[in-house]
Amino acid sequence: MGLSDAYNIDDLRRMAQRRLPRVAWDYLERGAEDDLTMAANRKALERIAFRPRTLVDVSERSLQHSLFGNTYTAPFGIAPTGAAGLYCHDADVALARAAAAAGVPFVLSTASFVAMERVAREAAGHKWFQLYMSKDRDAAERLVKRALAAGFEALVVTTDVPVGANREYNLRNGFAIPFRINARNVADGLLHPRWLTQVFLKTLLSDGIPRFRNVDSEEGGRIVAKDLSAFRARRDALDWSDIAWLRTIWPHKLLVKGILVAEDALLALANGADGVVVSNHGGRQLDGARAAIDALPEIVEAVGGKMAVLFDSGVRRGADIVKALALGADFVFFGRATLYGASAGGEEGVARALEIMRSETDRVMALIGCGRIAGLGRNYLEMPGSV
Ligand SMILES: Cc1cc2nc3c(=O)[nH]c(=O)nc-3n(C[C@H](O)[C@H](O)[C@H](O)COP(=O)(O)O)c2cc1C
Repeated sequence: MGLSDAYNIDDLRRMAQRRLPRVAWDYLERGAEDDLTMAANRKALERIAFRPRTLVDVSERSLQHSLFGNTYTAPFGIAPTGAAGLYCHDADVALARAAAAAGVPFVLSTASFVAMERVAREAAGHKWFQLYMSKDRDAAERLVKRALAAGFEALVVTTDVPVGANREYNLRNGFAIPFRINARNVADGLLHPRWLTQVFLKTLLSDGIPRFRNVDSEEGGRIVAKDLSAFRARRDALDWSDIAWLRTIWPHKLLVKGILVAEDALLALANGADGVVVSNHGGRQLDGARAAIDALPEIVEAVGGKMAVLFDSGVRRGADIVKALALGADFVFFGRATLYGASAGGEEGVARALEIMRSETDRVMALIGCGRIAGLGRNYLEMPGSV
């Protein structure tokens, strides 16, 4: 099965599953604990129905959409995903390049295998930087200053990780970054020779053991590989004053990611953020958290247009994108969809995922009789329990 045989994101997902060893597949596909929130994201999106209008001339329709003064070819982008380099060689560059070619924004994770400066150099387009910060403000400031110098346009601070999630599958699989080689993942790697040679060994040969490049530190003139836990020090002590502080050192757009209630969206606004990302981290953090799409309406209403409201978590179809936009999201992001593409076919696979999302979104817009993204609203939706 080639990329052109992938007609939807689920096709790419199945291709990814075939190619990846267990340790990498589980890390991509699973949520936390019992995957309740992951399932809730899907169910909640699926329960929303369209109220399509008919006999509307949509022959001149467009997916173009503006955010923070930039116009994109579609109202969606690629969410930050750490350890993306497990899915294809130089995945962070591949994702950024595919986004640039498609004319949509890309968010680079703090936990990337490629240093932010190289991603900035090797990919054009609109790139934002996602920050995992700790209470160690010096460490945070070093990352922020690097992102600024490298030309990232926006800073996305992820706040739903005060402690690591309970991902038991990672423990069972011996998942660790810097990647540790053990008997189990050697055996698994040998059963997935394409991944072993084209992803793992290629990375090993070009860059050494896969690790988080942005958190490496220079000690005594030597680059020392750090795992993210070294950078996680006292992340559970963060509070809103840290957002206010970031506001003083970051001159561009500042977004807070991981917001699920209106009260926190208002605190983000009060502390100087330009927007929030309504997200439950794709169900990967607090299992049992509400579906992100269920949180969206109260946040849109509370914010009342005073800052941008972005959305992610559970998006697998263009229809999901249209639903979130109709509920008032200003832009929609997805994490797994493009990583399935990266796993299935590197940069081309990411491009295929973006193309699928684009054509599905366009088709749904035509079928509901709405020619422009700005024209979307609640009138196109029937919410569960509203009949
Ligand atoms: C493999 C993987 C790694 C992720 N790493 C990060 C990360 O480093 N920082 C972050 O803010 N979110 C991270 N996320 C969450 C995504 O940014 C996004 O919130 C989530 O994937 C959206 O849900 P979806 O996968 O259903 O689209 C990660 C998600 C996945 C699947």
